[in-house]
Amino acid sequence: MAQSGIVYGVEPNLSAAEFRRVLVASGLDARRPAGDPDRLERMLRGANLIVTARAYTPERALLGVARVITDFAYCAYVSDLAVARPQQGSGIGRGLLDAVRKQVGPEVAVILIAAPGIETYYDGIGMSRVAHAFRFDRER
Ligand SMILES: CC(C)(COP(=O)(O)OP(=O)(O)OC[C@H]1O[C@@H](n2cnc3c(N)ncnc32)[C@H](O)[C@@H]1OP(=O)(O)O)[C@@H](O)C(=O)NCCC(=O)NCCS
Repeated sequence: MAQSGIVYGVEPNLSAAEFRRVLVASGLDARRPAGDPDRLERMLRGANLIVTARAYTPERALLGVARVITDFAYCAYVSDLAVARPQQGSGIGRGLLDAVRKQVGPEVAVILIAAPGIETYYDGIGMSRVAHAFRFDRER
């Protein structure tokens, strides 16, 4: 999967260190346990679809990530979507979600919870709002 200068891929073995770096670079670290490497590791190893966006350069710097839990049959929960600040607004977030949809296929609903203030982004890329969603929130 390629877009100008960007390579999208599926990386089940993404390291916690790289994941943390992109969380920090995007600003999403404020809302994720970025200071707890063991928990980041468990988040990665417990996910079953990790889509990355990397720079199409020899270093292949990680620019964005989507961490997803899915059954590949009915539903896919995008728990984390993050794009490094310098690259935000250049289509990578949309590209990551397109890649997730391609991976899970047409039988699967792609679901996520928008961070406060980001709602209009998801409106803008054509996702529909779900008024009747519920959750038991995590305690820590
Ligand atoms: C939210 C985020 C994932 C979007 O990724 P991105 O690569 O910056 O977004 P894209 O370039 O794909 O944007 C697609 C469109 O949405 C618009 N958009 C981008 N960020 C937006 C925002 N915060 N609010 C409203 N619209 C936004 C873009 O202008 C673009 O519009 P266009 O196609 O008309 O030019 C990214 O900005 C990010 O990582 N933010 C910080 C972490 C975060 O909040 N993650 C979401 C957790 S739910």
